[in-house]
Amino acid sequence: MARFKILRIDPEKIDDRVIEEAARDVLEGKLVVFPTETVYGLGANAFDEQACREIFRVKGRPPDNPLIVHIAKSFDLYRVARDIPELAWKVVERIWPGPVTIVLPAGDMVPKAVTGGRETVAVRMPAHPVALRLIEKSSPLAAPSANKSGRPSPTTAQHVIEDYAEDDVELTILDAGPTYLGVESTIIDLTKIPPILLRPGPFTIEELEKALGVRIVVPQFAKGLGEADSALSPGVKYRHYSPRTHLILVEAESYDDMLKCIRDLLLSFSKQGKKVAILATIETNRELRTRYPDIEGLYEWIQLGSRANPYTVASRLYDALRALDKAGVEIGIVESFEERGLGLAIMNRLRKAAHSIHRA
Ligand code: TXA
Ligand code: MG
Repeated sequence: MARFKILRIDPEKIDDRVIEEAARDVLEGKLVVFPTETVYGLGANAFDEQACREIFRVKGRPPDNPLIVHIAKSFDLYRVARDIPELAWKVVERIWPGPVTIVLPAGDMVPKAVTGGRETVAVRMPAHPVALRLIEKSSPLAAPSANKSGRPSPTTAQHVIEDYAEDDVELTILDAGPTYLGVESTIIDLTKIPPILLRPGPFTIEELEKALGVRIVVPQFAKGLGEADSALSPGVKYRHYSPRTHLILVEAESYDDMLKCIRDLLLSFSKQGKKVAILATIETNRELRTRYPDIEGLYEWIQLGSRANPYTVASRLYDALRALDKAGVEIGIVESFEERGLGLAIMNRLRKAAHSIHRA
C-alpha cells in the first residue's frame, strides 16, 4: 500500500511553510510530486543519485530513458550543463520560465541515472510558482511526468494517487490543483545545428522559430509517426499515454470525411454489441448528432474541449484518456486535429496513445 503525504497549496497564495516541508523531504532524498504548468512531475534532488534511481523504480521506467532537470535560476544551467551554446541563453532570456526543455552537453555533477548514461542532459525552468519556489528552497529537481510508466501524464494530484495507490511507495504530493497547459513541454536538442525538435509541446514550433530566429528540424517521429531514432530521443521508443481501453484515432482528409468515418465505425461496433465512448470536442459531438440522428444513444460522449481553442483540448486530453477507462466501454474513438500550432503536440500524443489509427 502506498503512503502519501498530501500537502495542499494555493499557487496564488503560496504558504512557505508548506514549501519548506516539501523541500526538506527533497533534501532528505525523498520523492516529491509537484505541479508544473504542463503536468505534475515526480521529483528528486537532481544531484542525489540514489533518490534519482528511486524515481525509475517507482515509476517503472526503463533506465535508459533519461529525466528532465528542472531549475529555478538561469545560473543553475552552469551546474547541470557545459559548453552552453548561444541559443540556450536565448531560450533563457526569451522563453523561460516556460514549457520548453533544451538538451545540452551534461555537466559533471549530473548523476548517470538522470542522463541514462548519455553525454547530454535535458533542462527546463517551469512556469509554475509552486515548482519554482520548491526548487529555490531545495535543489534543481530531476523529474519525469509523475504518471506510472505508459499511463497518461497526470494533470491533477488525484491522477497521481490513482496510479500508485496499490504500490509500495512513499510520496509527498504538493497538490496545487489542475495544471495549466495539460501537455508536456516542447523538447529541442540544442547540441545539433540546426536544432531538432524531439517532442512537440505547448510552445509551438512556429513560436520557437520566431523567438530564437532559427529554423528547427521536425523529424517524422516528433509527429508520432514512423520509426523513432532512439539515439536522438530515447523516450520515443516506449509506449506512451495509453488508456487501457482500446482507443481508435480517426484521421481523414477533411472534417466531413472524419465525421462520416466516426459514424460508420460507431454503427458497425453497435451491430457487434460493443459499447463505445467518443472523445470529441463540443463542436464534433454537436455535428455528429445533427448530421446523423441514427447514432443517437449509441455512444457515451467524453468532452475534449473546443476545436475553436486548441488549448482547451490540450488541457482536457489526459483527463479524457483516463475518463475512457472509467466509462465502462470496450472501445474508444477519438477525433483528430490539424497539425499546426498546438495541434502538432495534440496529434503526437494521440498517435502514441491510440492502439490503432483509422484513416478514412
Ligand atoms: O512538461 C514536461 O516536460 C514534464 C514536466 C514534469 O516537466 N516532464 C516530462 O518528463 O514530460 P518525461 O520524463 O515524461 O519526458 C521527458 C522526455 C523523455 O521522452 C526523455 O526521453 C526525454 O525527455 N529526454 C530526457 N533527457 C534527454 C536527453 N538527454 N536527450 C534526449 N531526450 C531526453
Ligand atoms: Mg512522461
